[in-house]
Amino acid sequence: MSTTQTRVALVTGGTRGIGASISQVLAAGGAKVVAVYNSHAESAEDYAKKAAADGLDIEVRHANVANPTDCQSVVEAVIRDHGRLDHLVNNAGIVRDRTAIKMQLLDWDQVIKTNLYGPFFLAKAALPHFIEQGFGRIVNISSFVGETGRIGQSNYAASKAGLFGLTKTLALETAGKGITVNCVIPGAIETEMSRKLPAEILQTVIDMVPMKKMGSPEDIAEAVQFLCSDKAGYITGALIPVTGGLLMM
Ligand SMILES: NC(=O)c1ccc[n+]([C@@H]2O[C@H](COP(=O)([O-])OP(=O)(O)OC[C@H]3O[C@@H](n4cnc5c(N)ncnc54)[C@H](OP(=O)(O)O)[C@@H]3O)[C@@H](O)[C@H]2O)c1
Repeated sequence: MSTTQTRVALVTGGTRGIGASISQVLAAGGAKVVAVYNSHAESAEDYAKKAAADGLDIEVRHANVANPTDCQSVVEAVIRDHGRLDHLVNNAGIVRDRTAIKMQLLDWDQVIKTNLYGPFFLAKAALPHFIEQGFGRIVNISSFVGETGRIGQSNYAASKAGLFGLTKTLALETAGKGITVNCVIPGAIETEMSRKLPAEILQTVIDMVPMKKMGSPEDIAEAVQFLCSDKAGYITGALIPVTGGLLMM
């Protein structure tokens, strides 16, 4: 890549919560960011306006990551419009909590399709381009729940544990091609998703954290930015907890 070319990043769920921070940090570091939203079009447009006002190069696009056609189309559109794609950050994720006995098949399906199929569909779409380019970075955003499990989250825990295997396998399949595939494991992070948890459950989690506090979306974003950078070229297949010590792997 010539020194004048700008890295192009695709960040799913890139307009809210942790993803919004990832988009901002990557853009502040000089990347052109395409932030993908699904159901909150209005807040995505507001986010794009605010980013532009802050001088950040972030555009927003719609894609449902659970839909393979959307995934292929958004990757193709980014490459067509910006000439390249360098970073794929699979951050979009949902929860549909119920104990396994009460869980509806739809809750299981939606969570697995969004959190696990989505990263696979997008990686599958991006990898031929990364291989041709001789460079690419994939960062999957998992969760400590993928390692520990949690009552009421069999679908979510299975999807997030699935990302560990996906990350390692893609890392093996692309090693030596200028491509790295890594996984960031957030602990308890302050966002809308965690604010939906009952207060007593949240407190139980905080009590378990050695640092006795929740993390911020920026804590995750900084780790993602490092993994996307040229400096992290020898790190692949890694599962990196950003958890205040909650998980030590
Ligand atoms: N917050 C935590 O404590 C925590 C802890 C561990 C792991 N994580 C993980 O970190 C990631 C971000 O979490 P968050 O707390 O920032 O969540 P959030 O605030 O609920 O945001 C979720 C994001 O995912 C997007 N999304 C959901 N379904 C989608 C789909 N089908 N297609 C495309 N985008 C979709 C949403 O876009 P729309 O709003 O436009 O639909 C939204 O931008 C998730 O993968 C989550 O599992 C979070």
